[in-house]
Formats: sequence, structure tokens, C-alpha cells
Amino acid sequence: MPKATILIVDDEALIRWSLSERLKADGYDVLEAETGKAAIEQLSGGVDLVLLDYRLPDTDGVTVLRKMKEFDHDILVILLTAFASVETAVEAMKLGAYHFANKPFNLDEVAATVERALETTRLRREVRQFRSNAARPYSLQRIVGGSAAITALRHLVARVAVTPSSTVLLTGESGTGKDLLAKVIHYASDRSSSPFMNITCSALPEQLLEAELFGHERGAFTDARMQKKGLLETADGGTVFLDEIGEMTPALQAKLLRFLEEKSFKRVGGAADIHVDVRVIAATNRDLAKEVASHAFRADLFFRLNVLPIAVPPLRQHPKDIPLLAEYFIDAFNTEFRKRVLGATPSAYALLQSYGWPGNVRELRNLIERAMLLSDSDRLDARDFPAMTTAISADSEFELPPAGVDLEQLERSLLLQALQRCRGNQTRAGALLGLNRDQIRYRIEKFGLSLTPEPH
Ligand SMILES: Nc1ncnc2c1ncn2[C@@H]1O[C@H](COP(=O)(O)OP(=O)(O)O)[C@@H](O)[C@H]1O
Ligand SMILES: [Mg+2]
Repeated sequence: MPKATILIVDDEALIRWSLSERLKADGYDVLEAETGKAAIEQLSGGVDLVLLDYRLPDTDGVTVLRKMKEFDHDILVILLTAFASVETAVEAMKLGAYHFANKPFNLDEVAATVERALETTRLRREVRQFRSNAARPYSLQRIVGGSAAITALRHLVARVAVTPSSTVLLTGESGTGKDLLAKVIHYASDRSSSPFMNITCSALPEQLLEAELFGHERGAFTDARMQKKGLLETADGGTVFLDEIGEMTPALQAKLLRFLEEKSFKRVGGAADIHVDVRVIAATNRDLAKEVASHAFRADLFFRLNVLPIAVPPLRQHPKDIPLLAEYFIDAFNTEFRKRVLGATPSAYALLQSYGWPGNVRELRNLIERAMLLSDSDRLDARDFPAMTTAISADSEFELPPAGVDLEQLERSLLLQALQRCRGNQTRAGALLGLNRDQIRYRIEKFGLSLTPEPH
């Protein structure tokens, strides 16, 4: 990551010097200006964050702030002042100041605020990059995530997209992004100007699914008053996405296999062979290899589908991506709900990263959506995710059983569960229990637990 550039605007040389030394030591590039005019001129060099004195020789901080925001809406401005009236503070915040620091300030606090501010914009910029690259609705950049797992997935998808005919099998738990990947593959392939059709195999009874896929001739069955083309025909030249393929009945599995082998099929009630050129992408949250072993799924179809397998990892295996995904959804819901939520607090991220995510990215998206609908704050906080904290806070959840409990035993058990869920990460386990790391350590010793955290 390139170094962030910070502009210090203050007419007092000593203040500029002390801030500058500290921030350089923290690894930033530092620029300085004595006046408002000089400060504005410095912006064109590319500035990420401004520490702005309120009292300047030529003008005041609020005026400079306004001009800076006109120049670059994303620029972060922290106002420094010894004379903050409430009105000034409110006005500055309305103009988009990130923070207000009272003079005399504590260098450590200022440095921490700077770091936090830059972290949020870094995420926001990354998100924006993802979005701007996503001019096409489903470009590769729609797959959000910087972890090794998601980076590898993005590369694999890119390679799969350019082999335009082979069948793809997407496997992964529900909510991991299989639908999304199917669309990305289609739109990144040279089939993108032809249709992408999808159908969920579990949603329809066998006969209807067959007619949807292959079409039917007039009079093929009671309701077939007209001839109808199936998805495979409609998608000619494009892609057909068969979701939840594991639910397909054996009879249909056989018909699908025939189509994959011969690239042709007959409409229901029809005699003519219809040839189409479509790529089939199938998805399942089942372990198809196991289903094959238990004869619930045809082995030959499995091998036919499994030409290009893509295993989509569950979210708990790449918790590193949670803040970026959360910011991505916050950004999306800001647009949808016309809100201006800036991000989430560190404690919210700690909570989100400590959770097990059985519903994967879909669950994360839903929780963010809910939090944004219900919260009025600028930043989503841990308390905006009550579903994840009720177990801790709601006393009614833990009703004392008639026979009582062994409190020590209960504490030990909860501690163990939290540590297991967080794979030994004590800070995250603490977030689940409302404890800090020292308190967790104390309890680990108290209960004589020996834990070797899993590397990850
Ligand atoms: N890596 C990702 N980046 C961005 N959005 C994602 C990602 N993975 C999943 N999503 C989003 O999460 C939701 C659920 O994904 P979906 O593709 O429907 O999952 P699945 O088909 O595996 O159940 C969708 O809104 C999808 O766009
Ligand atoms: Mg799906």
C-alpha cells in the first residue's frame, strides 16, 4: 500500500514540527502549510488527510474545510482548535470534518485518530475501486475480498471464464456466492452478449422442471396448449445456470447427461433433435461426491459436471474479508436507502469477525441491511447487531433451570465454545463474551485450559 500523505495546516511552527515528527515516525508522508491559501494549493499534490488548525492568519478553518471538500469530497479533515464553540463544531461536522481535536492535544490521541480515519478511507477507496471496475454488472471485481482464498477464487473464475464451453460445478455452503460467481463467469466469457438463464432445480416438480429446461410441444401434457421453448433453447449461445443440482431427480439427471454429451435434446412431446450451444454451470451446497457414493446422484453426470470444479469457501474461513465485505454492503445500502453511514466501529468489526457465519455472505449482507435500517448513528456499532449479542445481553435468554446450574461449569463451557469458534483467537473470543483479552487469559488460567491456537 502506498504511504498516506498528511497535510498539517497551522501557523505555529512548533505545532507543525511536533505533529510532523510524530507522523513521519508513524510512516506517513507529511506536508506543511502555514496559511489557508497555502493549504489549498498543496492539495493538488494528492493529500489523504488534513490536520487543520481552526485559527489561521488569513482565514478560518471552516472556510478552508469547505474549500477542501469542494476540491476532494473524500479528503479527511481533522480540525484542531483551542476555541471550539458548539456552533463551530456542528458546522464543521456538517461540512464533513472527520473529527474535532481540542488544543492542546495529546499526540498519541491525534496519531490514533489519524490511523483510524485512514483505515476507513482505505476500505472505502478499495470498495469504490471494486465498484468502478464493476461498470459491467458482473465483472470479476464484483467478487469482493482481499484474502488469499478470495484472490485465488477470482483468478480461477477468470480462467474458467475464458474456457467458454466446459461445464462448471460450483460447490459451497448456502450464501457463499455461487449465484454471483455463475453470473461473473458468464459476463466475463465471450458468451456475455447472449442470455444467462438460471433455474433452481429444487423449486419445481420434476415434470415442470423438465418442461422449463427442454421446452415442450403443443399438447405434450394437459396444460401444454402451445409449443414452448425451454431454457436451453432460449439461452442458445449463452449460459444456463442450474442451481441446487443435487436435488434433481434421477430421471432428469439422465436427460441432462444426454444433453451434455450430445449437445442436443428433444422438447417434451417432441421428436426433433434440437442443437444448441450453451455452457452449463451447476451449483450445489451438497457434497456430490458423497451423494454419488450413496447412489443419490449419478456418477457419470457428476464426472461430466465436475470438469471445472470451483469450491467456494465459507465465510468463516476468510474472516479477514469481513470488514471489506461489510463496507461494500454499507456502501450499497447507503445508495439504496439514501443513507450516509460511514462504516462500522472497531468493536463492531471485532464482533463480526468473531462470529461463525453459518449463513455466510448472505447472512452478513442481511445483518448489515437490518443494522442500517434500524440505526441512526454514523457508524454501525456492536449494539447495531443485536442478533449476535442477545445471547450475551438478554437475561431472559438464559433462564435458570429449575435444578439450578453449576456456574463455574457454565462459564468454562461458554469460554471453551467462544475460543473454539474463534479458533483460539482470544481477542475475538473476548468480543463474544463481553470480555477483554486479559479477562479471557485470566479465565483460561483459572480453568487450567491449555490451548494451541490453530494457525491461519
Ligand atoms: N465475495 C463476494 N463479494 C460480494 N458479494 C458477495 C460475495 N459472496 C457473496 N456475495 C453476495 O452475498 C449474497 C449471497 O450470495 P449468493 O451468490 O446468492 O450465494 P449462494 O448462491 O452460494 O447461496 C448475494 O447478495 C451476493 O451478491
Ligand atoms: Mg444460490
